[in-house]
Amino acid sequence: MERNIVLIGFMGSGKTSVGKKLSMDLKREFIDMDDFIEKREGMSVNEIFDKKGEDYFRNAERELCVRFAEAKSKIIATGGGVIKSDENVENLKKGGVIIYLKSTPKQIAHNLRHDNTRPLLAGGNKEEKIAKLMAEREPIYNKCADIVLDVSNINIEETIEKIKEILHINV
Ligand code: S3P
Repeated sequence: MERNIVLIGFMGSGKTSVGKKLSMDLKREFIDMDDFIEKREGMSVNEIFDKKGEDYFRNAERELCVRFAEAKSKIIATGGGVIKSDENVENLKKGGVIIYLKSTPKQIAHNLRHDNTRPLLAGGNKEEKIAKLMAEREPIYNKCADIVLDVSNINIEETIEKIKEILHINV
């Protein structure tokens, strides 16, 4: 399968962990968008939002998605907000199959209980912020996904097995 495997979903739904392990299993290159942008900028996502602003970060995401339209055989973990732009979704779809790792605000709040690397969830009640943003994002995730995978009750290994099963990959 030459098409990229593109993981989308809310922050803390497991895109990076699943993508990293899947890439080792399938011996394919893994790209984590946040990580790529952080390395290029020499700053954390928090610092980029703080010093350069969210628009700057979104533009870096946009440029990467343009490149992914032409890429092949990659496993890509996107940032949770990448699907807010139709142009990004089009580019990601051009190069790959889009898998939505769907989870619940409760599970995500649990996964991110010790996390302080997400500027959009900083300050205030985290679970409330997650629920509010999820309500806005959920319809978009559902709409642009080729495959929706409920990961709220399964672990990383089970998620990977399901992905291989759905994509008919035997490794
Ligand atoms: C964001 C998600 C984050 C990161 C940034 C903004 C979002 O990525 O890109 O903090 O808008 O949902 P993860 O989904 O990898 O946490």
